Parts: sequence; structure tokens; C-alpha cells
Amino acid sequence: MPQGPYSDIVMDHFTNPRNMGEIEDADAIGEVGSPVCGDVMKLYLKIEDERIVDVKFKTFGCGAAIASSSITTELVKGKTLDEALQLSSETVIEALGGLPPAKQHCSVLSEDALKVAIEDYRKRRGQ
Ligand code: FES
Repeated sequence: MPQGPYSDIVMDHFTNPRNMGEIEDADAIGEVGSPVCGDVMKLYLKIEDERIVDVKFKTFGCGAAIASSSITTELVKGKTLDEALQLSSETVIEALGGLPPAKQHCSVLSEDALKVAIEDYRKRRGQ
């Protein structure tokens, strides 16, 4: 049984985040701030042939936002951009084994940061 409001998966990703950091020569960056709390998430993507070959994140935010970012990097690594665009905040919440109601907006940051990053990539390429 998880202690407190968070699942074991959330606690694992919060205490041991995957792919944290930045990619210096990123092909795309998505930065978003939450209108709810002001927390900020930044995603860096490395893209080859329309596929995400590397992804890192920097999140200045709560534990749920850090766990959401971390699991998002795992969910989208290796996916094509079109596949990655299917990722929703619900996907993130499900993968985390749930989030308490007051923390559901934290997962929205992941969905939005990813969409902004992919838009950034397409803009850079004039698409
Ligand atoms: Fe706002 Fe988590 S992102 S409290």
C-alpha cells in the first residue's frame, strides 16, 4: 500500500527521476507554465526521421510535476512525433498509477510541454 496520497510509481519517479537535465543541441524545446500554480516544465527533444531519439526535462515544480515529466520521457522516447502527440494528461496519470485530484493539473504540464516542443520542431523546419 502506498503511503499518503501518492502511488509507489509517483514516489519512485519523484525520488529517482529519469532523463532529468537538458540536451545542449536539442532539435526542439517546449516550455510551459501552469496557470494553476506557476510551476514550469521544460522538455528537450532530439529528433531523427520524425522520431524522438532522446528526451530530457527540467521541471521547477512540485513532486507530481517532476514525476509526470519523468514518466513522460519514458513514454515518448522512441516514438514518432505523431505517436507522441497522442499522449494526453490522462495517459500520464494512468502510467503513474493515478494522481490525487488536486494534482491532476501537474500531468497537464507534460502534455502541453510535449505539444509545444513538437510545434517548435515543426516551426523550425518551416512546417
Ligand atoms: Fe502545479 Fe504540481 S504542477 S502543483
